Amino acid sequence: MIITGAGAGIGAAAAKAFVDAGDRVYLADLSLDRLKATVAHLGSPLASAHQVDVTDADAVDALVELVKTESGSVDVLVSNAGVFDAAAGIEATTHALWEKVVGINLTGTFNVVKAVTGPMVEQRAGRIISIGSIAAQRSMPDGLAYCTSKAGIEGLIRRAAYDLGPYGITANVVAPGVVRTDIRATSTEILGDVVPDTNVRIGDSVMDSLIPARRGGEPSEIAAAVFFLAGPGAAYVNGDVLHVDGGWIAA
Ligand SMILES: NC(=O)c1ccc[n+]([C@@H]2O[C@H](COP(=O)([O-])OP(=O)(O)OC[C@H]3O[C@@H](n4cnc5c(N)ncnc54)[C@H](O)[C@@H]3O)[C@@H](O)[C@H]2O)c1
Repeated sequence: MIITGAGAGIGAAAAKAFVDAGDRVYLADLSLDRLKATVAHLGSPLASAHQVDVTDADAVDALVELVKTESGSVDVLVSNAGVFDAAAGIEATTHALWEKVVGINLTGTFNVVKAVTGPMVEQRAGRIISIGSIAAQRSMPDGLAYCTSKAGIEGLIRRAAYDLGPYGITANVVAPGVVRTDIRATSTEILGDVVPDTNVRIGDSVMDSLIPARRGGEPSEIAAAVFFLAGPGAAYVNGDVLHVDGGWIAA
């Protein structure tokens, strides 16, 4: 199984859930440092680190080929790599910011889903789980490019589910609300100065007024939903969006 953006946060938590269950996990990430730290933390021969940028379709294809060669199949893809644009609205979103955020979040998802399609169709089995966001349905407090990319992921996954279902493959989205990770800092590191400082922060007001659970989620709580969708109990769940957001979708 392949998990992108597995060097930190939700991807790293998903890697732990699968390694704990005895699965062989290929962790892919832009950052070799984060990958190394996560693989060391997992401390298992089932986990390996692969420096791959999801916007590089050739590098993604090479990773899928490696997994196929070493494991004999590509059973699960968790498309999780993503960046966040600090709540930039239509006025603050430059073309450069749009291209970077949509390029990583949406085109990156296309690249990895496209890459696993051939092997999964060939083997007549596979699970694709993409990490979306509540931002696909609720515009605030996320940025324009981020919201668009996450809405696009839902469209992409729905169509892939329709196309691949006849081959015994499922494709679903897990859509978190607020999750306690370092995504803000990591995204600033990756996007650099194309991220404007909009001074909008996800703070207590969102927790109090919008999230019935009155707290952010833990990465392990998102990983549990991913794990379910990859397992035998979810064989008949296809083309769906599972919100794991403390009830924010109900607000
Ligand atoms: N944290 C939240 O509140 C939240 C809420 C909803 C959705 N999400 C989504 O969950 C996913 C994971 O977010 P997180 O909070 O764990 O973030 P994170 O920043 O902790 O981890 C994301 C990882 O993705 C990697 N990455 C970024 N661009 C990449 C690229 N081009 N190629 C390969 N790897 C790349 C980063 O290096 C990082 O290690 C993202 O898609 C994010 O949009 C997060």
